[in-house]
Amino acid sequence: MRFEICLIPGDGIGREVIPAAVQALQALKLDLTFVEAKAGFDCFRECGEALPDATLDLVRKSDAALFGATSSPSGGMQGYRSPILALRKELNLYANLRPCQSLPGEFSQPGIDMLIVRENTEGLYSGRERREGDTAIAERVITRVASERIVRVACEQAMARAAQRGTLRAPVLTVVHKANVLKVSDGLFRECALRVACEYPQITVQELLVDSAAMKLVKSPQSLDVLVTTNLFGDILSDEASALVGGLGVAPSANIGEGTPVFEPVHGSAPDIEGKGIANPVGALLSSAMMLDTFGEAQAARRLREAVYATLASGLYTPDLGGAATTVEFTRSVCTWLSG
Ligand code: NAI
Ligand code: MG
Repeated sequence: MRFEICLIPGDGIGREVIPAAVQALQALKLDLTFVEAKAGFDCFRECGEALPDATLDLVRKSDAALFGATSSPSGGMQGYRSPILALRKELNLYANLRPCQSLPGEFSQPGIDMLIVRENTEGLYSGRERREGDTAIAERVITRVASERIVRVACEQAMARAAQRGTLRAPVLTVVHKANVLKVSDGLFRECALRVACEYPQITVQELLVDSAAMKLVKSPQSLDVLVTTNLFGDILSDEASALVGGLGVAPSANIGEGTPVFEPVHGSAPDIEGKGIANPVGALLSSAMMLDTFGEAQAARRLREAVYATLASGLYTPDLGGAATTVEFTRSVCTWLSG
């Protein structure tokens, strides 16, 4: 099958890790075509828009988008809105899949294989924030529709993962919330989650308050399978989880829902290392493997992951993992594995 991929490198190290991912994808010798589109802060400075309509059109016409990272000024800037948030909204990509798996190397803890399913459209990131004099208010919106559909995605993922594992381990879904304090909003999320999960009798369902989930992630991450949670909690817990296996540089993600799926490393534009040639491309490479899985190219996805693991296992890795390899050296090794 032929697939068209829209590349959005964005800002900073996004422009270093996306070319690395493209090289590895090309080494797989599949029928892939690439188109490149602009987004981000530099794009905003050049043309006044962070996510031009032309980019959105290209993404809509493609089979998938591969997004690097963009910079967002913390103080805010008139007219600027984060392109990835805009893409998620425009394409109704309501589910954010953030897998966290052990990697070969001393930088990673062993025995971890979990997936955090983060609600992507509402919660504290619903954009309803305002200032009333010296009081600032952010509304945390939780709806039945969004809660039920995100839990359904999580249950489907839990079933698919268990099927892949064979009889090794039954699926376990952990619903993460704070319904003891946020009785109304997370009360609704919890109610929806437990009801939807009932449709999957094969899945063992457990609940964790978000604070104890944060602790469990550190103390016994090996016991976790699929976690489902609201937007902000999922954002924070997934960054925390990435630290167990090497940090932000290795964490992949997928945004899925109605429109073209968008795959992106979890990290940002990393201005502190931009241009130094040492950005870790593993997050972008593993995001590309998730994209291939979505295309139904499971074998190619496996080959790409194995090439990444083999390179790491050979002791070659970037400085964020304690190594000395450059982005180019790491990518070259992955491509050598793929063509060998
Ligand atoms: P960041 O993820 O860019 O960097 C955090 C730390 O991790 C830095 O020390 C960085 O050098 C390191 N790091 C991240 N990715 C790495 C990689 N692939 N290889 C090696 N080291 C890596 O997060 P930060 O510093 O909070 O944000 C920087 C900018 O990125 C901000 O403008 C922020 O708004 C934006 N951002 C964008 C995201 C996106 O486009 N999806 C996500 C997160 C942040
Ligand atoms: Mg984050």
